[in-house]
Amino acid sequence: MRQEPTISYLDQIYHAVNDISGKYSKPIEVGIILGTGLGQLIQHIEIEMEIPYNEIPYFPISTVESHKGRLIFGKLSGKSVVAMQGRFHYYEGYSMKEVTFPVRVMKKLGVQHLFVSNAAGGLNPDFQIGQLMVINDHIDLFPENPLRGKNLDDFGVRFPDMSEPYALDLVEKAMQIAKENSLTVHQGVYAAVQGPNLETRAEYKYLWKIGADAIGMSTIPEVIVARQMDLPVFAISAITDLCSPGNIKKVKIEEVLAAAAQAEPGMGLIIKELIKSL
Ligand code: HPA
Repeated sequence: MRQEPTISYLDQIYHAVNDISGKYSKPIEVGIILGTGLGQLIQHIEIEMEIPYNEIPYFPISTVESHKGRLIFGKLSGKSVVAMQGRFHYYEGYSMKEVTFPVRVMKKLGVQHLFVSNAAGGLNPDFQIGQLMVINDHIDLFPENPLRGKNLDDFGVRFPDMSEPYALDLVEKAMQIAKENSLTVHQGVYAAVQGPNLETRAEYKYLWKIGADAIGMSTIPEVIVARQMDLPVFAISAITDLCSPGNIKKVKIEEVLAAAAQAEPGMGLIIKELIKSL
């Protein structure tokens, strides 16, 4: 049975942090959140410990089948990391406070950088399936904001700045790494909607018009919370389907997963090299 949340959100976070610290007490430098179909990076982590989400007090539990649901602790590129295998999507029914709970926990565990991956539809006509897009800005189209409500002053300010949500030095480094390894990697704006349905043709057209290069259903809540806590963020999308006007086909989840698998080696390489450079 899950505990009923009879204590404050802040106390829930500290309970989770204390529980994890009791099991894994080493300092952790980097937090990693892996997106749909993008869990392979875990294989490159020298795993020291794993904790299933359902063993962490107040931690949400993932429901999407392609997600395993555990925190992984270990070394990646010589740095100590904590990786979420399985993330929480708003469309699954979690509140934004639940979606972003793990990011708060990671911050209190000491992480100094957050790395995020996701699967996204490509709106920019230059994009092809299986390519990567380093996110350099975003457009938040979610109907709820994780910072809504009483501000958690322990974590950050009421009105956090969002003029540079993604660490531009890491964006530049990622593009350099891509070039050195002959990977086609784009840079662009990620927009996120609540889903879970995919977009209509008119919506894809609208998203491109308002300035989005890729569209997904995740990442932005976690990034908002990370930035409130002054955590530098690197985020990258695997382009899993094309949705530029005139190029729209029906999207199947199997195809999204296959395209994510195709994009994954390049994504893994970029993340590993970036973490090495920190
Ligand atoms: N739209 C929204 N989310 C997505 C898409 C899409 O086309 N592809 C992968 N995630």
